[in-house]
Amino acid sequence: MPDVVLQARGLAKAFASPAGRLPVLTDVSLEVFAGESVSIRGSSGSGKTTLLQQLGGLDQPDAGEVRILAPGTGLVAPRSSLGRGVGFVFQNYQLMPELTALENVALAARIAGVPSVSATAAARSLLNQVGLGARLEHLPAKLSGGECQRVAIARALVNRPSVILADEPTGNLDERTGAEIMDLLLGVVADRGAALILVTHSREFAERASRRLVLSGGVLSPA
Ligand SMILES: Nc1ncnc2c1ncn2[C@@H]1O[C@H](COP(=O)(O)OP(=O)(O)OP(=O)(O)O)[C@@H](O)[C@H]1O
Ligand SMILES: [Mg+2]
Repeated sequence: MPDVVLQARGLAKAFASPAGRLPVLTDVSLEVFAGESVSIRGSSGSGKTTLLQQLGGLDQPDAGEVRILAPGTGLVAPRSSLGRGVGFVFQNYQLMPELTALENVALAARIAGVPSVSATAAARSLLNQVGLGARLEHLPAKLSGGECQRVAIARALVNRPSVILADEPTGNLDERTGAEIMDLLLGVVADRGAALILVTHSREFAERASRRLVLSGGVLSPA
């Protein structure tokens, strides 16, 4: 039986709005195992990004809890995993514009406490692996969208997280580049025995995941 890498129980999240309280997640529970890829679809505004933010510890749920497998530590709250439990990939890449590809990836390792020389070596190796060995010194503005997303994937992997959370990672890319990014994500996650939670509007990409879910009415259910 593979390890559980992510466990979410009874997540609820509402936002305050001028029109009153806006419930987004009402009762979300999810267990993800090492090596699994899970896709989440749902209409715009259904709460997919909100859910990933709770899963990755970027935001706190109003109720419920999340546990992530942090290598060497066991299941811990996302914020206690020191950037080693989850890696994020976003639709708009979210790279630091003033840093090179190499520096963007190395910075994520530095933040997790890796010494500079090792961080740079790990970043170089991952950028080679995602096909960007000849773009190490490029700034994001000088990279194509697909190349920026490759840098972001390298950054998400650099601390060997047990879970990659990807929020519409192909949303800004043309069809062919999007398919290449999907191949890369599914491939690197499988290679490392990590898990992938993929939010996407694409039915085709969602169907490539080993498990397919839909978020609607604040709850997750099988697609
Ligand atoms: N910080 C916030 N404050 C108030 N409301 C918010 C906040 N973040 C999200 N919302 C609201 O929560 C709902 C869910 O937003 P979310 O971004 O999670 O949707 P989504 O499913 O990711 O949509 P999309 O497919 O368009 O990316 C929306 O109605 C949004 O307006
Ligand atoms: Mg979203």
